[in-house]
Amino acid sequence: MKPIKYKYRVGKGIRYFSNKSKSKKKEKMAQILDGLKVSKEVKAEIKEEVQKILANNRRAPHLVAILVGNNGASKAYVNSKVKDCEEVGFSSSLIKFPSTVSESELLEKIDELNKSKAVDGFIVQLPLPKQIDQEKIIMAIDPRKDVDGFHPENFGKMALEMDTFLPATPFGILTLLERYNIETKGKNCVIIGRSRIVGKPMSILMGRKDFPGNSTVTLTHSYTQHIEEYTKQADIVITALGDPNFLKKEMIKDGAVIVDVGITRVDDDSEKGYHLAGDVDFESCAEKASWITPVPGGVGPMTRAMLMKNTIIAYKTSVYND
Ligand code: GUN
Repeated sequence: MKPIKYKYRVGKGIRYFSNKSKSKKKEKMAQILDGLKVSKEVKAEIKEEVQKILANNRRAPHLVAILVGNNGASKAYVNSKVKDCEEVGFSSSLIKFPSTVSESELLEKIDELNKSKAVDGFIVQLPLPKQIDQEKIIMAIDPRKDVDGFHPENFGKMALEMDTFLPATPFGILTLLERYNIETKGKNCVIIGRSRIVGKPMSILMGRKDFPGNSTVTLTHSYTQHIEEYTKQADIVITALGDPNFLKKEMIKDGAVIVDVGITRVDDDSEKGYHLAGDVDFESCAEKASWITPVPGGVGPMTRAMLMKNTIIAYKTSVYND
């Protein structure tokens, strides 16, 4: 993929990055891994596939999302998933439960969705209220409908490099690296954060025998001492920490590829009352990195697109292989 000219918001101003720029300072600027652009391409490909399915008089793929409680971020995420379904031509259903829902009520609904022939995939938006055992809920999802890729069976298959659903954020990062043809073979990849949704699966995927993959992976976390000693050696840094502006220019090496998974709501006096901040001090790191993802517009839209991708994979499996 060709380097692109990209409009990026820095602080209150707007800055234009372009690899065609003549000025020395701008020439040193990293190129953007444009998740918004690639996610649109992925969704357009899925939409085309759905149109073919419908033209063959088959039903559209159907994704169900379960939302428990009133968490603002969770509501926003689920609403955007429903919107993405509309965009690509899927059917979608949003099932809401109050935060007081019991574990057995939720398990009952999961059982119903597992059995439904009209549902290809479903997700239970996390986090869940305290009275609910999250592991028990994830374990109850039929792995064939687990489009989040959270079920241990799917996680195990991923680790063993078998075909399965990849968790949406790592899948999105792999797709971004793949479409920009970023070399990963033999590279030092440092991952910051070991969550089950991002850090842990990402560390496995970057070490697999594939492209992207074949990296030498270091998984760092809250007990890692002198984290900068690792990041300074990294050809690729993938950070999923939730600590705004954590990664600074001094912590990376020249030409590093920087992938920012952090999306933290930071209160401000804007109309919205907050803005989204990544883990990476973008302005300084962009002067040193070769490639960098912005926040917003980087990993976030890719995550959303890959949930759609997993849903169409689930659809094909259930419709054609049952
Ligand atoms: N909460 C934060 N990210 C996710 C996600 O990718 N899937 C689900 N189900 N819940 C989340």
